[in-house]
Amino acid sequence: MAEQPLLKRAVLTGAGAYLPAQILTNEDMAKRVDTSDEWIVERTGIRQRHFAAPHETAAYMGAEAGRQAMEKAGLQPEALGAIIVATSTPDQPFPATAVRIQAALGAKNAFGFDLSAACSGFIYGLSIADAMLRSGQVKSVLVIGTEVFSRLLNFEDRATCVLFGDGAGAALLEVREVEKSGPGLLSTHLYADGTFGDILYVDGGIGQKDKPGHLVMHGREVFRHAVNLLAGAVSDALAENNLTAADIDLLVPHQANKRIIDGVGKKLGLPAERVAITVDQHANTSAASIPLALVSAIQDGRAAPGRLLLLEALGGGLTWGSALLRM
Ligand code: UT7
Repeated sequence: MAEQPLLKRAVLTGAGAYLPAQILTNEDMAKRVDTSDEWIVERTGIRQRHFAAPHETAAYMGAEAGRQAMEKAGLQPEALGAIIVATSTPDQPFPATAVRIQAALGAKNAFGFDLSAACSGFIYGLSIADAMLRSGQVKSVLVIGTEVFSRLLNFEDRATCVLFGDGAGAALLEVREVEKSGPGLLSTHLYADGTFGDILYVDGGIGQKDKPGHLVMHGREVFRHAVNLLAGAVSDALAENNLTAADIDLLVPHQANKRIIDGVGKKLGLPAERVAITVDQHANTSAASIPLALVSAIQDGRAAPGRLLLLEALGGGLTWGSALLRM
């Protein structure tokens, strides 16, 4: 039989996570706003969230998660080519969180930048890393999602403040020559529709005088679009790779709401054991939620070598996307 040509792929060689020590249960939230454990669990599946202490900034948490990913891969800091940080809650407008992390890791040969795509940021980061690795620009990229949404929340708004949490997750991708059936990113698909910019946004920021900005979400509107848009992103991913939902070993979705995750899982016909859920433990950590769920699935054995993972996310923008990753 003729030998199969090898393909250049971005292969996941290490992953890491960081969660702040402070945990707030739904009962704790009910002491701050007019809500209940029952409402939060029934509507979202969330049971608790982590909130950062003052020193736990996006850069601090991202560096911890990134260091873990590098250690798992056995890559020395000087060998790292690039750092991409997906965050909506950077420590400062500049320097970029990625550059702060570069310094913390001692990754002196890496360049780095932040990207802003809200909850889809990690998928956007994977997509850029994939292109940089396959084009030969760099040999390794650390993609980090890190968020301190607790600092963006309006604690007068019970409809949003109970939904989010803080944390960071990281994935180290390295370019490898592999067989078609081998590991790595098979594809990424990115989408945006700015006409939905006002259903999920921050109502202020540096560019707006005297308005520090809080998260505002028209939850029902976002929910209404989420399952259909995500189903489209998923079916594009499967079609491009001549795969069906039956080929997916594990869905690793953005963790915003268990009802949205269940809706996508149901459309794909996936049983519960083939869907990674961490929203109950972490709430919505925006760009950090997929790498945090991925690390949890690696730890529980469901993201074992050879398994095919489908990642998907939707967030403010609206932005959304999907990625197919063989471990
Ligand atoms: O990560 C980015 C993507 N974001 C998402 O995917 C979020 C998408 N949206 C959602 O997950 C859901 O829309 C929410 C969880 C945000 C809300 O669930 P819902 O079933 O759409 O509830 P709702 O906003 O329609 O509110 C239902 C009721 C309202 O009371 P009335 O008007 O029916 O009397 C709210 O005032 O629930 C009330 N409510 C609450 N009650 C207790 C809203 N927030 C709370 C609360 N505790 N925290």
